[in-house]
Amino acid sequence: MSKILVVDDEQMIRLAFAEFLKDEGHSALLAEDGESALEQVRVHKPEIIFLDYRLSTRDGLELLAEIRNLLPTAAVIFMTAFGTMDVTIRAMQLGAYEYLTKPFDLAKVRDIIHRILTGRNTIASLGQGQSLPAVSLDQMVGRSASMQEIYKMIGLLTTQDVTVLVTGESGVGKELVARAIHDNSPRRLEPFVAVNCGAVPENLLESEMFGYEQGAFTGAGARKMGKFEAAGHGSIFLDEIGELQPSLQVKLLRVLQEKSFERVGGNSPVPVQARIIAATNKELHAEMLAGRFRKDLFYRLYLVHINIPALRERREDIPLLVDHFISRFNREQSRKVCGVAASVMQAFQGYSWPGNVRELENQIKRAMVLSRDDILIDEYFEFSSQTQPSGQISASSLVDASRQLFASLLKADANPPLLMEYMVGIVEKTIIDEALRVCNGNQVHAAQMLGIHRSTLRQKMKNHGL
Ligand SMILES: Nc1ncnc2c1ncn2[C@@H]1O[C@H](COP(=O)(O)OP(=O)(O)OP(=O)(O)O)[C@@H](O)[C@H]1O
Ligand SMILES: [Mg+2]
Repeated sequence: MSKILVVDDEQMIRLAFAEFLKDEGHSALLAEDGESALEQVRVHKPEIIFLDYRLSTRDGLELLAEIRNLLPTAAVIFMTAFGTMDVTIRAMQLGAYEYLTKPFDLAKVRDIIHRILTGRNTIASLGQGQSLPAVSLDQMVGRSASMQEIYKMIGLLTTQDVTVLVTGESGVGKELVARAIHDNSPRRLEPFVAVNCGAVPENLLESEMFGYEQGAFTGAGARKMGKFEAAGHGSIFLDEIGELQPSLQVKLLRVLQEKSFERVGGNSPVPVQARIIAATNKELHAEMLAGRFRKDLFYRLYLVHINIPALRERREDIPLLVDHFISRFNREQSRKVCGVAASVMQAFQGYSWPGNVRELENQIKRAMVLSRDDILIDEYFEFSSQTQPSGQISASSLVDASRQLFASLLKADANPPLLMEYMVGIVEKTIIDEALRVCNGNQVHAAQMLGIHRSTLRQKMKNHGL
């Protein structure tokens, strides 16, 4: 039996929790405001605390900091109805154990309590709430469950200085996430230096990244600093890491392992102080299986990994993003556009968004250039591919996709013994992805639909990085 405190100014919520916790065999403590919460914390030292963000009398973040000071061993689960990026990041920086967006179901509460009590995760490693006032940052928009997860990860990764890999389709916001991690971390006053590994020719990339010594090659006049040195104690963003050629993959692996590198033409190691954030829109796991990406580097990078889902997998974010871009362009262009027509929004909701958020941003920008009206209507929008109605998994589309995949793999000269494994992997991932989408992310339902056990589903999701 554990002591669990619930802090919420809504009586209904307190009572629902009390009943549930008792049924689960725990001892429930209840508080309706900050003062009585602190009192309960002092007197009863609860192991777990569910804390509401919006208490009528005081700010939940402030209270969170105070509770963490008073009782650092308690796992505090922060609850809110509005999951904006800065509140989520702040809560995680202040050492919240978890972040729950209302409304949530009690099964989730049970899962969290179970996770804490089995001690699989300790809170000891999370920051102790040192104050880190966030600088103004390019706010990310989106309140879908998957974006909340991402804000939470960003928050965690601002207090833990580890290498991070950000994955996701083109235009989903990978660079934005990398910048948010940097801008909210203690390194934020130091440089953020980006290197696009796909855009620089292979022979130049090495000296671009690591710099060179005087006379390293013809034309190498004076010693030149590379991006790793330029980043200093800041962050270096290695974009399109999937494009890195094998010779540089080896060098990067050495940087990660030894925390130092050599300039081209030099032989004394230069220490790496910068934090590395890498990104790719390739299926890095598949690249590895196909023999194009080093296994050791893959596993080293994959350790801490944020995957940003495609926009079509979080359609509830579309209206928010539309508003966000319209108000931004209104400001930039001194316009007074107030929104898109209902039919446009409907088309948006049915569209597959292959270019993700960037495509949405560009669509709005283009429509605002072309139209003089305050409401953006259909004729100003253009969709690159046919709209995909959401719904059940279609077997014929899967067969088509497999054929295409097979053809492109043959063309790409994939390693034959791995071809089958690779294809089966991709198809399996696609099916699991689809099943989860159709079931709105509910793993129990998705497992039933696929006819596999929930733990099998979990394992497969983990293998595929879902
Ligand atoms: N959640 C979001 N809220 C607001 N703007 C966003 C969001 N996600 C992406 N954007 C905007 O969409 C555009 C694309 O984002 P970004 O460049 O970070 O994507 P990316 O994943 O790095 O794309 P690529 O794979 O093409 O490099 C940017 O203008 C960015 O500001
Ligand atoms: Mg990018």
